Amino acid sequence: MTQAADDMLFTPIRIGSLELPARLFKTATAETRADDDGFVTDAVVEFYDLIARGGTPLIITGNLYISRQAKSAPRQLGVDADDKIAGLRRVTDAVHARRGRIFAQLNHCGRQVVPDFVGATDVISASDVKDLLTGTRPRTASTNDIQTIVRQFADAAARCREAGFDGVQMHSANGYLMSQFLTPYTNRRNDGYGGTLEHRTRFAREVHRAIRERVGADFPVIMKMNGADRLPLRDGLKTSELVEAALIMQNDGIDAVEISVGHYESGFPMVCGTFFRCLRNMVDGSMRHLPPVRRTLMRVFWPVVALASNLLWKGREGFNLDYTPAFKQRLHIPVICVGGFRTRAAMERAIRSGMCDAVSAGRPFLADPLLFSHIRDNQPGPRCVDCNACVGHLGAQPADCYHPTVRAEKDRMLAGMAAK
Ligand SMILES: Cc1cc2nc3c(=O)[nH]c(=O)nc-3n(C[C@H](O)[C@H](O)[C@H](O)COP(=O)(O)O)c2cc1C
Repeated sequence: MTQAADDMLFTPIRIGSLELPARLFKTATAETRADDDGFVTDAVVEFYDLIARGGTPLIITGNLYISRQAKSAPRQLGVDADDKIAGLRRVTDAVHARRGRIFAQLNHCGRQVVPDFVGATDVISASDVKDLLTGTRPRTASTNDIQTIVRQFADAAARCREAGFDGVQMHSANGYLMSQFLTPYTNRRNDGYGGTLEHRTRFAREVHRAIRERVGADFPVIMKMNGADRLPLRDGLKTSELVEAALIMQNDGIDAVEISVGHYESGFPMVCGTFFRCLRNMVDGSMRHLPPVRRTLMRVFWPVVALASNLLWKGREGFNLDYTPAFKQRLHIPVICVGGFRTRAAMERAIRSGMCDAVSAGRPFLADPLLFSHIRDNQPGPRCVDCNACVGHLGAQPADCYHPTVRAEKDRMLAGMAAK
């Protein structure tokens, strides 16, 4: 191992009560390997066992639905009922046996769902603003709905603690329900949950407080949020307002923030890269469930959309570092940056320069579950090429690498491990 003595990527970091030995984490990627009712399968356990086997200090699960209404993809994992706890315990046991740590990401999708894809009958959001991408028009959540959802988040967090998770992450990024409440474009309310930033953060604050009441002050609770909404011509949030929201959450006791970007309606800034494989897979998968006009338009125009997307959202390392310095300046809790990290040099540079405290990666772990040990030991491994074929298959196939040559390399690596 040729690790520089002053390598900050491999120095410990504290998240709330939890000390972690290094600063490269596995971020959330929906596994879509659960059974049809959201229960853990062997495939889910194997997925996390491998990543933990690579020495990854912290794994964040894909988003877990906190109620049936919160579900956004087929074969998504759920934590909506007590009978899910035993299966989730298998996941945490597998990770702990490898000396890893694992947080559960808790989510409600709000309006970001194609109802026919998951059999949803009641879609809600902060306001009844139609999603321009999916065509889904939600109904406005009543105060009763909000109270029910707050309780469901808290129940879900309590189940996670019981299942042995080391912490939870509130998903408040990427245009899902908590993000819909934060953003003026999707939150047109004029009650105590809309209007000022203080009011628009109220839903997230109530969720956080309710979770704390159930899991206690010593259990890490972190939040994923946007560094920018990237909703041009619409009333999306800019970095400065999101930093203010993060400060409010820090004052309320959040233990760390992870910074992402964009809503569904923003296009693909969340997964910068190339988009031919992505859109081709989507057209044959999740987009089959879109309303007819949208489906037909995508069937005809997907290559044009892919071409435009390639130009608009080019892959580059650490693409959310555009936003994290503003959070670092004002927050004292750890700021984790996700997005585009592929090389040890780029990860190290981001942390050393003070732009973030830790980095996380998603697609690279789908290509190479042993990414952490390969980076740590300066060993080559299957390398993600940002083709986004995985994003294209989201919900239709298990989350995995679908680039032919990278996948072949991964399969060879895993076969070699199995033969040993
Ligand atoms: C297949 C797939 C599934 C994803 N699922 C989630 C999810 O469940 N929750 C979430 O917060 N982000 C999810 N993301 C976004 C990632 O967390 C991350 O922000 C994005 O992939 C950019 O990081 P990367 O360049 O390291 O992949 C997903 C991404 C992919 C590719």
